[in-house]
Amino acid sequence: MIGFFDRLSRPFLRALDPEDAHALAIKALRYMPVVRASADDDALAVRAFGLKFPNPIGLAAGFDKNAQVPDALLRLGFGFVEVGTITPRAQTGNPRPRLFRLDADQGVINRLGFNNDGAAAVHARLVARRNAGGIVGVNIGANRDSPDRTEDYARLIETFSTVASYFTVNVSSPNTPGLRDLQQGKALDDLLARVIDAREKIRQRAGLTPVLLKIAPDLTLPDLDDVVGVARKRGIDGMIVGNTTISRPGSLRERDRAREQGGLSGRPLFKLATRMLAETFVRAENAFPLIGVGGIDSGATAIAKIKAGATLLQLYTALVYRGIGVVTEIKSDLTAALKRGHRNSLASMVGIDAAAITAESWPG
Ligand SMILES: Cc1cc2nc3c(=O)[nH]c(=O)nc-3n(C[C@H](O)[C@H](O)[C@H](O)COP(=O)(O)O)c2cc1C
Repeated sequence: MIGFFDRLSRPFLRALDPEDAHALAIKALRYMPVVRASADDDALAVRAFGLKFPNPIGLAAGFDKNAQVPDALLRLGFGFVEVGTITPRAQTGNPRPRLFRLDADQGVINRLGFNNDGAAAVHARLVARRNAGGIVGVNIGANRDSPDRTEDYARLIETFSTVASYFTVNVSSPNTPGLRDLQQGKALDDLLARVIDAREKIRQRAGLTPVLLKIAPDLTLPDLDDVVGVARKRGIDGMIVGNTTISRPGSLRERDRAREQGGLSGRPLFKLATRMLAETFVRAENAFPLIGVGGIDSGATAIAKIKAGATLLQLYTALVYRGIGVVTEIKSDLTAALKRGHRNSLASMVGIDAAAITAESWPG
């Protein structure tokens, strides 16, 4: 049934302006009855950050920026949903057009710039679904014109304390000028100190909410050394690797579109993001688990991410090209891979290829 709806709607959605298509997809999820995906195989369950995920496939940030449809997405089979990025105050983002499909490459370029309804509106929606269950992470960022970006992150942690299953500190969007500078050693150390402090403040009412750091795949390896070092020192619970890339691989076929400014996601991001994941895994030395993101669109790419070091996975762009059915497909491929390998959980596969991947030539 899900597949049928999906096959019917995708060609239609793809004919529209990408941003209108996205708005329509959110509307459909909001108002149409969603059939619940079948229950997950127990072997796909993952324990991480003190949470139990029914399956490892999460929806990456940016699809449900304003927490309008997290429960519909959970019912469709995602193991967790990350809403946001949310900033303290609402903002409109960059002028349109700001979202571009690279159809021949199965990629997307976006320069949305944290368009969102702001903390108060999103908080009210999450309060309204508080008892619905399921893992809903809250991805937080700073307002473009904020006089104190660090303060924005701390404030958002306090605001969302009782409704977030986990927080993602997003310092890796390429579309807010200067935001990625927060990944630099001293700035990151100050930011994470403030964030962990804010988490301590809410501990009484919220318990120990996990805090994850989402990084760019464009960091240099010396920068990555610093980032992982600071994350470990500050006791961060995990990292998400990673966000979209400002690089443009030489293999891109949609050369004109590729010149659009913004972050590239989807299939052309897979190699770079997987390399950065493996590089992060070898540096983290099991201090915390990693979420692998970037170009996952099949069982094979999901398994490659796990072997490169991902305990959990997220995807977004595959929904544009493969539709929601991709989630069920990946889950059955993971179950089949476990059976074939006589394994009873995914944990034993995590990072088994990481060292080998870091020895390969750099993806171009
Ligand atoms: C249209 C669009 C909007 C996005 N918005 C956000 C965002 O607000 N915050 C964020 O952390 N990542 C955002 N991302 C990045 C995704 O969460 C993800 O890291 C990236 O797209 C790579 O995964 P994918 O190749 O599966 O799409 C966005 C991606 C896209 C395509």
